[in-house]
Amino acid sequence: MTDSLRGRDYIETRDWTKDELQLALDTAGELKQKFKRGEPTRLLVDKTIFLFFFDKSTRTRNSFEAGATQLGAHAHFIDGETSQAAHGESPKDMGIILSRYGHAIAIRHDLVPGEGNTLMRAVAEHADKPVINMQCDVDHPCQTLADLMTIQERFGKNTKGLKIAVSWAYAPSYAKPMSVPQGLMMLMPRFGLDVVVAHPPGWELMKDTVEYAKRAAAESGGKLSFTDDMDAAFEGADIVYPKSWGIESLFKKPEEALAKSKQYRSWICDARRMKIAKKDAVYMHCLPADRGNEVTDEVIDGPQSIVYDEAENRLHTAKALMALTM
Ligand code: CP
Repeated sequence: MTDSLRGRDYIETRDWTKDELQLALDTAGELKQKFKRGEPTRLLVDKTIFLFFFDKSTRTRNSFEAGATQLGAHAHFIDGETSQAAHGESPKDMGIILSRYGHAIAIRHDLVPGEGNTLMRAVAEHADKPVINMQCDVDHPCQTLADLMTIQERFGKNTKGLKIAVSWAYAPSYAKPMSVPQGLMMLMPRFGLDVVVAHPPGWELMKDTVEYAKRAAAESGGKLSFTDDMDAAFEGADIVYPKSWGIESLFKKPEEALAKSKQYRSWICDARRMKIAKKDAVYMHCLPADRGNEVTDEVIDGPQSIVYDEAENRLHTAKALMALTM
């Protein structure tokens, strides 16, 4: 295992070079093969990672907990709301003290625009152990790394020119963070994919992430475009990634956002829309999906769906991130 990323924070994919991200992907691929062969990978014996969750999770928590165990480490779950962080303990104290207790600090804080990323960067400034972003308001770099791994497995490592449609979709359950579409839009152009983002007027992504994604696309020669037409986004797509997200200014007024979104119930990924994409296009979703609203059962359970491979790769990429940085 190379030491080149030892001690590094992983807060946004833009903090790592393309080569560093590819190293993480290749490491995840090796760990996946060893896991399938039943070979031990006890690379982090006696190490501890602290997992702070200020939001719910199935995949992220379990991929880090199971992954840490498989690497010989211990993942220590902390409900953010029952920690002193909820009483306002400073990120400085959190970073310094947990750095003295263990070997990495991972944080999920994704529901309030302007808060999560700021908190993580403040913890990282004072921690002398790596800080890993398990999803914030800006990026979900663990998810998008697993997404890219899944795309490389399906299409090969040369992803240049593949078209990915990242579309808003209707969901009545809750105002979902903006970090997955933002993370996809910022990462995929760096690997040569052409990204089209579709959303109704009002669901614009954070300005800074759009500006960064435009620069990343220009530098890599990839394309980035925006539309308010879900069908148009799907045209000629190799990958479709429709999911809901909230309105930046209304995260504290979810009822208002939900009332607005009801007029866009037709933004669903169904069999008709899948036919607009390429014949062999794949359907992706970070999960959990709002079945019957974001996507029909026919699509998510159908032959074009690769959501379970994608979810599985959360384990292998989480292990790679821990093994490389801790
Ligand atoms: N995709 C994802 O992050 O899943 P969880 O919210 O279950 O962790």
